[in-house]
Amino acid sequence: MTSTVITGIGELVTCDGRGPDGLGIRTGAAVVVNEERIHWIGPARTAPAADRQIDLDGRTLIPGFVDSHSHLVFAGDRGAEFVARMAGEPYDGGGIASTVDATRSASADELAALAAGRVAEMRAQGTTTVEIKSGYGLTVADELRSLEVARQFTTETTFLGAHVVPPEWRGDRAGYLDLITGPMLAAAAPHAKWIDVFCEPGSPHAFGVEEARAVLLAGRASGLGLRLHANQLGPGPGVQLAIELEAASVDHCTYLSGADVDALADARESTIATLLPGVEFCTHSPYPDAARLLRAGVSVALATDCNPGTCYSSSMSFMIALAVREMGLTPAQALYAATVGSARALRRTDIGQIVVGARADFAVIEAPSYIHLAYRPGVPTAGALLMGEAQ
Ligand code: NIG
Ligand code: FE
Repeated sequence: MTSTVITGIGELVTCDGRGPDGLGIRTGAAVVVNEERIHWIGPARTAPAADRQIDLDGRTLIPGFVDSHSHLVFAGDRGAEFVARMAGEPYDGGGIASTVDATRSASADELAALAAGRVAEMRAQGTTTVEIKSGYGLTVADELRSLEVARQFTTETTFLGAHVVPPEWRGDRAGYLDLITGPMLAAAAPHAKWIDVFCEPGSPHAFGVEEARAVLLAGRASGLGLRLHANQLGPGPGVQLAIELEAASVDHCTYLSGADVDALADARESTIATLLPGVEFCTHSPYPDAARLLRAGVSVALATDCNPGTCYSSSMSFMIALAVREMGLTPAQALYAATVGSARALRRTDIGQIVVGARADFAVIEAPSYIHLAYRPGVPTAGALLMGEAQ
């Protein structure tokens, strides 16, 4: 067994729930890792001997970011759609069809290479766990292929056959739902941990609440955990559906009613509200009031939603900066949401915190304090420090 002692940590941010902000900040501390698990945390002067040493020379050590929502398996480019949106065109999900075309046309090797590039980009910015969805294949073979690619990079894979109704099924929504809940789910389930639906009753492209319920229940019957895209384009019943079905996470939450906030607060850890501020940034949508959610007692996560349509950013640091500048979170609350919060959204307790027994998945910040994540927006201060294979 190889052991490593990490010394020279300027600020150790454990996110262990201690202290007024839950960040459990320590100075003068060292961390010892055995293989891929954290073995010891304490004052550097009493650190046990180890096989090797990493000296951070005053840099900050935090838990690796957990990006609990991404769509990394796709081909093609929608830069022109982004330009149109910045000029005032609204986002309605219609552009997804062009990514479906490009993804179907790409080879499995091309898709894997594209996804690998995006995962490497995330690692270089401090993300050590990423959830990856399918959803740009939308045939049995193409969804299966997308999940096989995703599975090369993470255990947190999500079947999103219910992303949009693809063009060839537009005249027969019921037929497409039968395909998703039947042969597509059967092919996807062995390669997926989760099932997700783009639930947006106001959109002709996405799915209504009863359609979403049917897909999620079929996924649950096949052993998958539940997640939901909801309340992104407008208010609606999606958030309440996620809570009712005890989905691990309901994502976007851009438009929330008072009743939604109360229900999320009552749900506590059962359903986490995952906020995706890069989407509001890239679609000109209003930012949800994250401070209001925390005041109400809602458990909040932060993720990138990295995808070619609504947010082509892989940077968790940028999400933290946006959550602080635009959603009312303190830097401490934003970091907690991007680590512990996102881990909870994946129902994981072995990541997102620097505690004994957890995975030794860290991020190093080239700065004296975690505050620089928000204080220096757009500057790549964070990078991953992984002791084992990412899971
Ligand atoms: O999470 N809202 C649905 N799906 C993605 C966007 C997909 C796309 O536009 O390509 C999202 O925002
Ligand atoms: Fe998404």
